[in-house]
Amino acid sequence: MTTRIRTRVAIVGAGPAGLILSQLLADEGIESVVIDRRTRAEIEATIRAGILEQGTVDLLTAIDPGTRVHTVGQRHDGIELRFQGEGHRIDFPGLVGRSVWLYPQHEALKDLLALRLANGQDLRFGATAMRVDGVGTATPQVIGTDAGGAELVIDADFVVGADGSRSVVRQAVAGSSRDGHFREYPFAWFGILCEAPPSAHELIYSNSDDGFALISQRSPEVQRMYFQCDPDADPNALSEAEIWETLQRRVPGTTLTEGRIFQRDVLRFRSFVAHELRHGRAVLVGDAAHTVPPTGAKGMNLAVADVIVLARALRALLVEDDERLIDAYAETALRRIWKAQHFSWWMTSMLHVAPGTSDFDRLRQLGELRSVVESEAGRTFLAEAYTGWPHA
Ligand code: PHB
Repeated sequence: MTTRIRTRVAIVGAGPAGLILSQLLADEGIESVVIDRRTRAEIEATIRAGILEQGTVDLLTAIDPGTRVHTVGQRHDGIELRFQGEGHRIDFPGLVGRSVWLYPQHEALKDLLALRLANGQDLRFGATAMRVDGVGTATPQVIGTDAGGAELVIDADFVVGADGSRSVVRQAVAGSSRDGHFREYPFAWFGILCEAPPSAHELIYSNSDDGFALISQRSPEVQRMYFQCDPDADPNALSEAEIWETLQRRVPGTTLTEGRIFQRDVLRFRSFVAHELRHGRAVLVGDAAHTVPPTGAKGMNLAVADVIVLARALRALLVEDDERLIDAYAETALRRIWKAQHFSWWMTSMLHVAPGTSDFDRLRQLGELRSVVESEAGRTFLAEAYTGWPHA
């Protein structure tokens, strides 16, 4: 038995990019089908970063005035850069007139799933895309299986790969699932979630001789913290006492509030941009198109930026039969993608201490940090990128 569906836009992936795109298309009267291999509960439990740019929050608010970003989320007007035992605040509104919001991605996903389902979106969980055919024709197809394991064929006018870093759609767009511009890093993050009140009002990005640490937050009761570790580190090898000792040592000058650690993970770092973002009637957005290391907090924000550009292009193509914006999609999206790649790489290399770093490089790095915090131009550069360049 084969289930056959006909729609205008087939969206593979019900993460932030796929869900927001389906809403923007619906607002233009363009019907879509969204599939995701995961269950709804699995999507809502995805632990990811939590920083939303001003423009991301503005978009979430425009499509859903009921979004809990303003009630459960928290506006942050700055971050602290800490090095050589001293904190230096970067005041976002004072420098660039914008802020960011701390709102965990899984909370944003709960809002978006509820919104799309309430609006009648055809959204299929447990449906796995296996391949995409016919992207060079006017009638591309997504072929896969539905939640019951039966064959699923979606006939569409356009296919969007919003299916994350292990994208299946990437094969049809880029010719291979791995083709792209890559960079690996010789370190990773050891992340924890713990039951404790916040240790600071804002995020602390701390550079120390022992390596980097990030003190982030989740809620009044739960905190998220990270410290630089070896990419092959075993998350279960350290005792809770050793984890706290490592964190405390890397944030000199602040006494962290400790609490029971109930989740630990090792996040590997990678920078990646696919060689092609579009082939005929298929495109890639979000993590399917690019990956950034988490230091700049750009992941979800960059996915949203892609989708803003794509929604306009699909409207022009599918409503007005105008191909100009879709022809420009990759070039337009890549301008911001490479700025975000640079910012994420820059924050990463400025704040981490790579294994085997020479004295020269360590002292140069401290000089770089000082150039940023002691100059209004330096702080403004950081604040512009962190809060997000305005959307066109
Ligand atoms: C997080 O809270 O998970 C987080 C915040 C800022 C980052 C990365 C991760 O740069």
